[in-house]
Amino acid sequence: MLPFTFHAPTRILFGEHTAGSIADVVKEFGGKKSFIVTDANLFKAGVVAPIIESLEAAGLGRTAIFDQVPPDSDIRCVNSAVAMAAEGGCDNIVAVGGGSVIDTAKVVNICLTYGGDMLDYQGLNNLPSKLSPLVCVPTTAGTGSEVSLVAMIKDAEERKKLLFGSRFLAPDAAILDPCLVVGLPPRLTAATGFDALTHSLEALAAVSTSSVISDALALEAAKLIFEHLPAATADGADLEARSHTLVASTMAGLAFTNAGVGIVHAMAHATGARFGTHHGMTNAVYLPYGLEFNLSAVPDKYALAARFLGISRSADDERAAMDLVDGVRKLMQRCHLPSRLREIGVPDIAEGELAELAEAAVTDPAIMFNPREATVEDIGGIFKGAF
Ligand SMILES: NC(=O)c1ccc[n+]([C@@H]2O[C@H](COP(=O)([O-])OP(=O)(O)OC[C@H]3O[C@@H](n4cnc5c(N)ncnc54)[C@H](O)[C@@H]3O)[C@@H](O)[C@H]2O)c1
Ligand SMILES: [Fe+2]
Repeated sequence: MLPFTFHAPTRILFGEHTAGSIADVVKEFGGKKSFIVTDANLFKAGVVAPIIESLEAAGLGRTAIFDQVPPDSDIRCVNSAVAMAAEGGCDNIVAVGGGSVIDTAKVVNICLTYGGDMLDYQGLNNLPSKLSPLVCVPTTAGTGSEVSLVAMIKDAEERKKLLFGSRFLAPDAAILDPCLVVGLPPRLTAATGFDALTHSLEALAAVSTSSVISDALALEAAKLIFEHLPAATADGADLEARSHTLVASTMAGLAFTNAGVGIVHAMAHATGARFGTHHGMTNAVYLPYGLEFNLSAVPDKYALAARFLGISRSADDERAAMDLVDGVRKLMQRCHLPSRLREIGVPDIAEGELAELAEAAVTDPAIMFNPREATVEDIGGIFKGAF
């Protein structure tokens, strides 16, 4: 077996209504005054209420709340939140929301802990020391950001996503409370579930960086998603389905943050930054195409997944790998997900703009883990196929 390093520093707590005891967790990590980061929808819907109650009842002071995180948060949002947190004298951060909220909280924490401009810390391994305590409560079952070592923030002017990656970015604790996910609408449930599925299948295929541990997490996460995402999409109040998809998303997060992602994420980052499409939805559309592109490089890995998921009985790896692609397309249909870029708001673009998008994808950090090298022409072909 080849040598590997596996990071899993985040404490994970799972259970219905666990969010209501968040104060105990914050206290354990030494927090005295929390800065809550969330978005306006969640705040209005009362999803954050049990968290505020718990923190205030525990005498952790009147908490400061920033509820203005937009989907695909950007530099401006992070800067406003940092100003508010600094004024409030907060010493720890609690993130309640989807990936946009959690990533915002991570980068706010960088600025609060070290001071200065966030751009000084972007890229890989540019954080000098441990950050202030950060506890994350995901309200989507998709990004895995509650355990990942990365954050993505949009540079709206440059139309690209900035990557922050460091072992210090892993949150101190992740509280997985399925009750907080019940209000997520069907389309976003399916799309975020496919983000997690893409994490797991891309981590599995990242042959040079994956390990037996990341493979195990990726396979089980994919299985839970195949088994429970249709039910979570059909009935948001199905707490069993919500629980399984929520835990699967965290498992897929651990897998990809150690093994990496690949071509689907590279294309989704480039497309999302340009056209504002939702991250999970964009991954879903590209996923079957990415699998087809990589099939010749990792038929054994895809075959392993297809057999583990019970969607292939073929002893032939290539045949079983094709069954995986087929199974993913069928799961998309069962979850009522669109299968074309034009259905998710991507316009028909001229050759020049397509070349720019493809260039952004081949230079995206996610592509370095892909098992097969992709050229600008390859990406252009996938875009046209998926359009
Ligand atoms: N850091 C990482 O490891 C990582 C990994 C993957 C994706 N991401 C990032 O995460 C972002 C996408 O996050 P996301 O897919 O979780 O979506 P999101 O956080 O952008 O939220 C999408 C929408 O869903 C709503 N929503 C969230 N939870 C809800 C709930 N429980 N009930 C009702 N509405 C709810 C939000 O208000 C928002 O309008 C992208 O910016 C992507 O780049 C980060
Ligand atoms: Fe993702």
